[in-house]
Amino acid sequence: MIVGRIGYRLRQFWRALYARPSGGDLETVSSLLTPAQMALFHQMHRSEQTHSIQVMRAVSQASQGIPDEPRRDLLRAALLHDVGKSRFPVRLWERAVIVLCKAFLPGEVERWGEAQPSGWRRAFVVAQQHPAWGAQMAAEAGVPPLAVALIRRHQDQPPNPGGGLEDRLLQLLQAADHEL
Ligand SMILES: [Fe+2]
Ligand SMILES: [Fe+2]
Repeated sequence: MIVGRIGYRLRQFWRALYARPSGGDLETVSSLLTPAQMALFHQMHRSEQTHSIQVMRAVSQASQGIPDEPRRDLLRAALLHDVGKSRFPVRLWERAVIVLCKAFLPGEVERWGEAQPSGWRRAFVVAQQHPAWGAQMAAEAGVPPLAVALIRRHQDQPPNPGGGLEDRLLQLLQAADHEL
């Protein structure tokens, strides 16, 4: 079971690595983000841009009944949820190590992630802190507060069912992010 799960995660990792966003995708992105926010989006590794676009497509499908403004914030959050990772770019092999360690050593991964982002712990710190960093970067680029909150919370424990609109949007974002 756990081996199957790791295999799935690694396949997902390799697929994302070679995927590239299409011109049409980038047009949708630019209709949701201001030029400053677009610049943030482009700071991400290409495979992360593609992952973010896939998450945006998935939440767009899953949020049909939601009013237009919060829905656009959900899409913005999907596009920028991992932008904090661009603060300290992580090497390919480090990303693969994180995938494996999260499966086998989740407690340690959390502890290592609380250190300073230097030395061998750097990739673990990025994995843990990127939601907070990304939320700050997005806020500085004028992303609306609802989208910023979703970015900050995207790796938190899932919200309780029956919460408010923000919790509902967070559930959609987390579901798409875990799948893709
Ligand atoms: Fe993330
Ligand atoms: Fe993600």
